[in-house]
Amino acid sequence: MCGCGTERAVIVHNRYMFRLQYRPDAALVLLEESYAAEIYAIVNHDREYLAEWLPWVDVTHSPADIVVFIRRSLEQLARNEGFHAGILYDGQVRGTVGLKTIDWSNRKVEIGYWLAAGYQGKGLMTDACRAIVDYAFREWRLHRIEIRVAVGNRRSAAIPERLGFALEGTHRQAQRLRERWLDMQVFGLLAEHWKP
Ligand SMILES: CC(C)(COP(=O)(O)OP(=O)(O)OC[C@H]1O[C@@H](n2cnc3c(N)ncnc32)[C@H](O)[C@@H]1OP(=O)(O)O)[C@@H](O)C(=O)NCCC(=O)NCCS
Repeated sequence: MCGCGTERAVIVHNRYMFRLQYRPDAALVLLEESYAAEIYAIVNHDREYLAEWLPWVDVTHSPADIVVFIRRSLEQLARNEGFHAGILYDGQVRGTVGLKTIDWSNRKVEIGYWLAAGYQGKGLMTDACRAIVDYAFREWRLHRIEIRVAVGNRRSAAIPERLGFALEGTHRQAQRLRERWLDMQVFGLLAEHWKP
C-alpha cells in the first residue's frame, strides 16, 4: 500500500476515528476540529499558491471557516458518504485529501486534494491517492473514481496519470476562479483497470 512495498495498509476506523499509515513516514487521519488551527495556518501562509487552483481559499478567512468544513466532512462520514483526511507528515498536517459525496447508486466518487507548498515533490499526494483508491475499490467495492483537474495544473494532473487514470475529456469553463473560467479535465479510473 505504501507505494514502495507490498504490505497491506494498516487501517483503523469506526464512525469517529480513522488512521491509515499509508507509508512509513506519512499517515492519513480523519479531519477533526483539533486540526483546524494547523490547517488554517497552512492556508494562510500558502494563500497565493493554493488560490491559483482552489476557489475556496479566497473565502477562507479564519480557523472557524476550517471548522465549518471539518464539521461538514464529519457529517458526511456519519452518512456513510465518504470522508476527508489530513496528511500527517513529520507529526503535522501538511495537506488534505478527500472524497466528494459518494454516489452509491452508481458506485462512484470524486477525489480532491491539496498539499502545503513546501511538502510537494515527495510523492505524498500520489501515495495518499493510491491508498484511498485502493481502499475505495477493495473495501467499498466502488466501480469508478474521478479526479478533475483544471487545464494548466500540471502537478495535479500528474497524480491521476501516475495512478493509471484515463483522461476522458475536458469540461469547458466548468469552474469559476477569480474572474476567469477554468476548463476542467476529467480523469477516470474503473475498478477493473486498477492494479493494486
Ligand atoms: C497538486 C499537488 C497536490 C501536487 O503535489 P506534488 O508534490 O507534485 O504531488 P506528489 O505529492 O504526488 O509528489 C509528486 C512529486 O514528488 C516526486 N516523488 C518523489 N517520491 C515519489 C513517490 N514515491 N511517488 C510519486 N512521486 C514521487 C515526483 O517525481 C513528483 O515530483 P516532480 O513533479 O518534481 O516530478 C500540489 O501541487 C498542490 O497542492 N497544488 C495546489 C492545490 C491544487 O492544485 N490542488 C489540486 C486541485 S485539482
